[in-house]
Amino acid sequence: MRKMRTQRAIAVLASVLLVGGVAACGNSDTGGGSKDDGKITMGFSQVGAESAWRTANTTSIKESAAAAGVELKFDDAQQKQENQIKAIRNYIQQKVDVIAFSPVVESGWDTVLKEAKDAGIPVILTDRSVDSADKSLYKTFLGSDFVKEGKLAGEWLVEQKKGATGPVNIVELQGNTGAAPANDRKKGFGEAIAANPNLKIIASQPGDFTRAGGKQVMEQFLKANPKIDVLFAHNDDMGLGALEAITAAGKVPGKDITIITVDAVKDGMQALADGKFNFIAECSPLLGPQLMDLAKKVHAGETVPARIETEETTFTQEQAKEALPTRKY
Ligand code: AHR
Repeated sequence: MRKMRTQRAIAVLASVLLVGGVAACGNSDTGGGSKDDGKITMGFSQVGAESAWRTANTTSIKESAAAAGVELKFDDAQQKQENQIKAIRNYIQQKVDVIAFSPVVESGWDTVLKEAKDAGIPVILTDRSVDSADKSLYKTFLGSDFVKEGKLAGEWLVEQKKGATGPVNIVELQGNTGAAPANDRKKGFGEAIAANPNLKIIASQPGDFTRAGGKQVMEQFLKANPKIDVLFAHNDDMGLGALEAITAAGKVPGKDITIITVDAVKDGMQALADGKFNFIAECSPLLGPQLMDLAKKVHAGETVPARIETEETTFTQEQAKEALPTRKY
């Protein structure tokens, strides 16, 4: 009798252990409801398609995501901040692993960045930064030093005009109002020429980083100002648009008007090699590989540097001729 009771007790204990074991296995199979297949999903909000630089940047991001095995959700904001905010909110709802974006303007991001932070989704800024005081709202900023680009452009001009005795009239084509590269390039250029009283910015207007904008604003500059010696365009596309206006006004670009731009995309480099532009400060759009690498690191909880600056150079007409055959974008 005693033996039978002991056998029944062992059987009950075994079945309890067995059921418990199956239940435990079941829990670990479902992983508490979150399936982790090791693949990262990135939600990316792009500024738009305003320039050749932007097109090259989009290609770099799409190709690098595919190469790195990152599932990319891509949105083109068509130059509108409200579209970027909407896209970021969609990515939060979809519970993507990482959000990356290039902010069309610097200000007004705190609320949506806080929403991403509260949802536990890391944000990476790429190409352009934001002016949020709370740096914990994003993990890192990968991109160029736009102030430096403006400075390099200004320093080259100061060197070229150091013997000038009379006034040197400069017109400036800015990027879209409120954008980091427009604010910063203006600042850097202004600081570089400040010490030379002959160098004067006589007109400065946004051309929105587009060829059409560059052409239209340059036409106005030419009408309003009989003597223009220098054009500083915040990107190649606006400089290329301005070439049309300058030629139509009967002037020779690169000779009658010295033209300085930023980016060094192929068409800009061709204009420089052809003698129509005089100097370009490079801004690299090939940010995709570094962005994917950072996404993997922040997703894995690794600490990444708060600022990663893109390596860039400058080009004279001779250097453009040499670099053109192997130019990637
Ligand atoms: O943010 C980078 C700038 O945006 C590039 O210089 C310009 O071409 C682009 O539109």
